[in-house]
Amino acid sequence: MKKIIPAARTEKIKYAVRDILLIADQAKAAGKKLVYLNIGDPVPFGFRTPEFITDAIIDSLRRGETGYAPSAGTAPAVEAIRRDGERRGIQNIQDIYVTSGGSEAIELAMTALLNPGDDLLVPCPGYPLYTAVLEKLGAVANPYYLDEEDGWQIDVEDVRRRITPKTRGIVVINPNNPTGSVLSEKVAQQLVDLAEEHDLVLFSDEIYDKLIFDDVKHVSLAALSKDVAAITFNGLSKVYVGPGLRMGWGVVSGPEAKIGDYYRAIQKLTRARLCAPHPVMAAVPIALDGKNEHLPEVVAQLKLRRDITVEMLANIPGISCVKPQGAFYAFPKIDGFKDSDEEWCARLIREKGVVTVPGSGFGQRPGTKHFRIVFLPDEPTLRQAYSKISEFMKELKQS
Ligand SMILES: Cc1ncc(COP(=O)(O)O)c(C=O)c1O
Repeated sequence: MKKIIPAARTEKIKYAVRDILLIADQAKAAGKKLVYLNIGDPVPFGFRTPEFITDAIIDSLRRGETGYAPSAGTAPAVEAIRRDGERRGIQNIQDIYVTSGGSEAIELAMTALLNPGDDLLVPCPGYPLYTAVLEKLGAVANPYYLDEEDGWQIDVEDVRRRITPKTRGIVVINPNNPTGSVLSEKVAQQLVDLAEEHDLVLFSDEIYDKLIFDDVKHVSLAALSKDVAAITFNGLSKVYVGPGLRMGWGVVSGPEAKIGDYYRAIQKLTRARLCAPHPVMAAVPIALDGKNEHLPEVVAQLKLRRDITVEMLANIPGISCVKPQGAFYAFPKIDGFKDSDEEWCARLIREKGVVTVPGSGFGQRPGTKHFRIVFLPDEPTLRQAYSKISEFMKELKQS
């Protein structure tokens, strides 16, 4: 019998958010009671997909919409996404494609753009899907570092210095996972200008765009120029509390002469994988054109949990945390711990039963240590988790 050898392209793929569960499972098997602050899914924490979404899907199923849909998406879904893009001020929309989650939209956009050896500017810290797909494609992650001292904003001059002859695009995650930062309009404009100047494709991941606190304004990057080549990613996973529905999309914008060949390449890829989940597409117009009556309560709940997070972490010596302005993540910094942040997170699980994800899983500035918190659990659970982190830090200091 000969062993089946997996492809080399899978060797370096890591996904810290799920990898940490191996350690958590061991601790659980050893009898530890765990508090999970590691998965960005609102549903297990009591948030419900709004009924106007589930009803639309059930109605679609009842109408028998279980055959293949058009590869780009059904006409009502595509038209609703176009209207939504126009309301955001996105100019020059050339193409829309509906996918199985935002993840597939991202993967198709990258696959259609990058040859082996090409590089893509990726935010660090940032969501690890981008680097995983780059590994698959044999393309290169070109990291740019968000400025923790400046509320995790992008330092556009730093991004400029990192552009190489092989750079094809730039990823912006706004609001960001894992920092919860929202890009200021001024920095957004500078970044769009930079992408335009260097003919880079702007990948604007706006999947958390309506989960924003404190009157902070969110701008869609593609709305800031009609000449920039951009793909704006969004979906039903976060704002519509339906990650398991697997519904996302990409909005391609910019001058036709510049991006025509590119979006036609994406269309080829969408046809090769047939279609996204057909009945779920029926929820897209209702979500995007509707009143979103669920949102004020979701945002109010998240804001309360964000406030507890920031307040309690501020009182723990050795931990500091930039206040998140959106999404449901915080990315606190660990000071004075001599080992790695992976070790810190593993010990926090084993000793206190609190599951967070090491900052290294999101790319962080070399020499710094962080962990990511998901602040979706209810108030008592969060308070208990932060008290345990506080005890843990005290015990570390004494040891
Ligand atoms: C920044 C970001 N983009 C994309 C995704 C993937 O979203 P989807 O569930 O729509 O594939 C996530 C999921 O956590 C995310 O945090």
